Amino acid sequence: MARMIKYDYKFMSDKKVGRFGFRQKELADLQKKLGKINEKLDKAKNSHDLSFRALPYDYKMLTHLYKLNKILRNHFDNMVVVGIGGSELGAKAIHGALAGDYANQLRNKKGLKIYFAGDTTDPKPVLDLLKIIDLKKTIFFIVSRSGLTIEPLANFLFLRKKVIEKVGKSHHANHFIVSTLSNKNPLYQIAKREGYLVLPHYAGGGRYSALSINGLLPALAAGFDIKNLLKGARAIDKICKSNKLEKNSPALFAALQYLAYKKRQQNISILMPYSYYLDDFSFWFRQLMAESVGKKKLGITPIASLGPSDQHSQIQLYMDGPHDKVITFVRVEKIRFDLQIPKYKNSEISYLGGHGLNSVLKIEHLATSVSLMENKRPNGTIILPELNEFYLGQLFFFFEMAVVYLGEFFNINVFDQPGVEQSKKYMYGLLGRKGFEKEAREIRRYI
Ligand code: PA5
Repeated sequence: MARMIKYDYKFMSDKKVGRFGFRQKELADLQKKLGKINEKLDKAKNSHDLSFRALPYDYKMLTHLYKLNKILRNHFDNMVVVGIGGSELGAKAIHGALAGDYANQLRNKKGLKIYFAGDTTDPKPVLDLLKIIDLKKTIFFIVSRSGLTIEPLANFLFLRKKVIEKVGKSHHANHFIVSTLSNKNPLYQIAKREGYLVLPHYAGGGRYSALSINGLLPALAAGFDIKNLLKGARAIDKICKSNKLEKNSPALFAALQYLAYKKRQQNISILMPYSYYLDDFSFWFRQLMAESVGKKKLGITPIASLGPSDQHSQIQLYMDGPHDKVITFVRVEKIRFDLQIPKYKNSEISYLGGHGLNSVLKIEHLATSVSLMENKRPNGTIILPELNEFYLGQLFFFFEMAVVYLGEFFNINVFDQPGVEQSKKYMYGLLGRKGFEKEAREIRRYI
């Protein structure tokens, strides 16, 4: 049987953190609901919202991506992903976790160099990017479900002009792949008119699209084993069939987050991986939790944190501040190679000699987790046997399903995001989009 990521929640319990932790009876009450919830989710499995659960089983999409990747490898050195929010954070988290900060410098023919350039309209990053990439060797992956989002579209138009200047109008289409919904949206229309390759964007919400082409194409282009990512996701999907919280760790995680919020007003949820390369993953989690659960005056505020650096920045607050937080650590059990700290005699830091850097990381996590528990601060740890495609796929699906279960416990729709619409409309108004004149008038009163 495949090894699974584990959720260690003993420091979440009242036995360890007193009145700030969950009581077994409360968990037992939620346990009673799980069967019905699973039944409901199963019935709705073909619905638009839950279609992300089918992504790990989409073998047709995989075949298509492998074929496409062969072509990309033969023609390009770089891929620039242009998207924002749910259309970008998943791809960034996968790339961050598996490749890390130096991947582009280290990459030697194993795959394309991957860059991200759609999540801001600050001109500096895109200008800097243009200094380091050869446009003739670059494929742009433009990702926008709606095909309407200002930030990626503004960057796309700018980059398109640059590509045309470099390779000519007649050849520029070879440098663009678009992921969007096949409807009348402007990005789709431009793509069709210009002859760009269009891939169907995952139809559900962007924040559940990490394991769709949005995350998978850049991962494959970078040289990662996307089959194993999906295999990991399927392994979690399988345990979600269980109606026992003990066996269904995403539901268990959701139950504990729910109880913390509902019974103890702990409305802040911190994700703090003790793995440098899971930093981007925390930002993906942050969006998933915030946009899915934050609505109708309800909401768990997610915080993306990182160990051990935040031990020197945030821990004072987590340890000694208000009792309004739960912390989830992520720890990686086995690192393929460790670095031994050299011995230095006759110094106060001699004790460091001989330890591996990774064993120090584990000690840092343990010391932080136990200290928090002793200060009555509930905390849990997700343990990855290794940081590879298989366990990363599990981690993504773990949180996606956990948020779905949270929605069921709270009885809210975790798939919409009405709160982001108003500012979008004001922006359209100010930028002169037709149909948004009323919004333009409204917001001009404040200029
Ligand atoms: O998760 C979401 O739905 C959002 O974060 C969107 O992904 C984000 O606003 C970008 O939208 P689009 O993909 O339509 O450009």
